[in-house]
Amino acid sequence: MLSGKHILIGIGGGIAVYRVAELARLLIKQGAIVRCVMTSAACEFVTPMTFEALTGETVHTELFNLTAERQMGHIQLARWADILLVAPTTANLIAKFSHGICDNLLTTLFQVCEAPVLLASAMNVSMWESTTTQRNVKALKAQGIHFTGPEPGQLACGEEGPGRMSEPETLMEAMRPLLQPQRLSGQRWLINAGPTWESWDDVRILTNRASGKLGASMADAVAALGAETILVAGPGTPPTSTLVQRHNIGSAQEMLTACEQEAGSTAVFVATAAVSDYRFSEPEEGKLKRKDKARITVTLDANEDIVAHIAGLPNRPRKIIAFAAEHSNHIEHARNKLRAKSADAIFANDISGMGENDAAGWWVTPKQEEQLSRMPKQQLAVRLIEQIMGMD
Ligand SMILES: Cc1cc2nc3c(=O)[nH]c(=O)nc-3n(C[C@H](O)[C@H](O)[C@H](O)COP(=O)(O)O)c2cc1C
Repeated sequence: MLSGKHILIGIGGGIAVYRVAELARLLIKQGAIVRCVMTSAACEFVTPMTFEALTGETVHTELFNLTAERQMGHIQLARWADILLVAPTTANLIAKFSHGICDNLLTTLFQVCEAPVLLASAMNVSMWESTTTQRNVKALKAQGIHFTGPEPGQLACGEEGPGRMSEPETLMEAMRPLLQPQRLSGQRWLINAGPTWESWDDVRILTNRASGKLGASMADAVAALGAETILVAGPGTPPTSTLVQRHNIGSAQEMLTACEQEAGSTAVFVATAAVSDYRFSEPEEGKLKRKDKARITVTLDANEDIVAHIAGLPNRPRKIIAFAAEHSNHIEHARNKLRAKSADAIFANDISGMGENDAAGWWVTPKQEEQLSRMPKQQLAVRLIEQIMGMD
């Protein structure tokens, strides 16, 4: 995937610069062609000589360079790139990128670049968590810019928290999917996945056998196609790529709240989660003592239907895809649910696939029904995304 690819690394002035040298070396080892652009702050940490020696290419540092600009060097560099990776991405660069400031070679390149952009952010925790940085990050994500990190851990400044640049191997993994055609670039997809946990007390829960594997695979695949991807993940949902923005939740009510918060400006909502229909009416604190009775009765209250709720919002996602786990009459149940939930399509899957690595089912829309045979969930995720894309 990386072999022969043109990788432009924009290097910002953060303490993590020294780790970018290792990244450049690894990329070249994989057969990529690497060119580097450094900000003046980056040159305070490591000299361009390091990257010239590693890449065998001229390192670019200045916008106003007579030789390079005779051929409009900054435009050429942006067109040359299959991907622009900015590492480390400083708070300063995030602010400039999000406001369209073009005051040096890297910020100008960013504005010109039509290739996918991956920002490997790294900074002090307070800088990352500041209202301004978070507002700028949100604006860039909405523009289809991808982020990895900052990762939690011990920081160079001695503090602890999200601030570290992702490891070179993680950055390479995050880059791979972006080198595919970005067919969903500019779209925002919301996906939910996994089971929910309804607490009876602080120890006991009501849950189901869903694993979240299909939803997690869909989130990874959609993010790889360039969509801004938000995953609301129930307990046990497998890890997802750093390109996926993930909210880990517990109960059905938490899942509803997170989905509602994220539903705005969403092109597609894919509801793969197996949400508990009921919750305990009177959950207890601590651990309930065993009762000396042969039978006890507990009362449950119905949870709100998340798909129907999101479908009823004024800023409803353009397409809503619901999932239904059934053990018989799959198509008939799917047709009823399609109407009841105001969804645009239902994937009626057989309960035999719950928690497994493979699944099968029926794709049902008001006009169409198609059987999808049993296949690995990663493959099924790609098939379903094709079906959704074909709905336009
Ligand atoms: C020792 C030192 C380490 C720094 N590390 C970071 C960092 O990790 N992240 C960050 O956003 N800024 C960091 N800064 C601040 C930036 O260097 C500063 O904001 C600079 O203007 C960034 O320039 P640039 O964004 O053009 O590269 C650091 C500054 C110093 C002196």
